[in-house]
Amino acid sequence: MNTRIDAWQLQGHTALVTGASKGIGYAAARELAGLGADLLLVARDEDYLEQVRLELADDFPGIAVRAFGADLSEAEERLAVFDWIADLGAPLSLLVNNAGGNVPKAALDYAPEEYRAIFELNLFAAFEMCRLAHPQLVQHANAAIVNVGSVSGATHVRTGAPYGMSKAALHQLTRNLAVEWAVDGIRVNAVAPWYIRTQRSEPALADPDYLDEVLDRTPLRRIGEPEEVAAAIAFLCLPASSYITGQVLAVDGGFLPYGF
Ligand SMILES: NC(=O)c1ccc[n+]([C@@H]2O[C@H](COP(=O)([O-])OP(=O)(O)OC[C@H]3O[C@@H](n4cnc5c(N)ncnc54)[C@H](OP(=O)(O)O)[C@@H]3O)[C@@H](O)[C@H]2O)c1
Repeated sequence: MNTRIDAWQLQGHTALVTGASKGIGYAAARELAGLGADLLLVARDEDYLEQVRLELADDFPGIAVRAFGADLSEAEERLAVFDWIADLGAPLSLLVNNAGGNVPKAALDYAPEEYRAIFELNLFAAFEMCRLAHPQLVQHANAAIVNVGSVSGATHVRTGAPYGMSKAALHQLTRNLAVEWAVDGIRVNAVAPWYIRTQRSEPALADPDYLDEVLDRTPLRRIGEPEEVAAAIAFLCLPASSYITGQVLAVDGGFLPYGF
């Protein structure tokens, strides 16, 4: 009998996953559900999100799956998410800040409102979601936050500067909160994916020459799958990772450590 079973399951947890209707967020929601966590799903397109909610509720009948449509770039909508959670009476113990976006351009081509919008979603929204979640997280014995960063926060990739800047700041936010909130029993970690096959990355990867270049720089010689990021997110949520905080875990097929 595995006496460590409780370290590898999430029963009794409620996880708020942002950007949960597609890609990495959707895979993370599925993974957390499979480990027994109740789900609170957020994305902008409410109709699509409801389809996803129904699908997950069907696939995981033992858990509660709830959904709320919100644009997390908007401060009022972030507050609305937490009003909704307060009304549900389902305090969260896990927060996955996954919603993020980008408009890749050359540095000189950005209008100020364009790069500020990238920061608003990728960084400030995540910071505010952490702050809004704190009063609930602090009440749970095994609370955790996982931020979805990017290898672009550690090295130059062809995303445009503001995206890399915002993800680097998100990584540092992860380290700062981990230290500040350790006393509150809240662990804070991040994952940093390289190319993962999602709707967002599909157009770039459809170009065979570009794909070859990407694979050339990826020791595992393939594009990552959303489920492979979801597994890392889930691990950082599990009690099994109880002594890990302030880390940024690359999920990159070896991209970051690869030199020549
Ligand atoms: N895919 C990659 O190769 C890769 C690599 C490194 C890092 N990442 C990071 O991973 C995260 C997820 O990327 P992905 O590729 O899975 O993206 P995706 O497939 O485009 O999915 C994005 C999800 O976020 C939601 N969303 C987008 N903007 C939102 C907003 N303002 N408010 C609330 N929800 C919003 C989307 O639903 P709605 O459109 O309905 O809102 C969708 O559910 C991002 O933070 C991204 O920077 C991705």
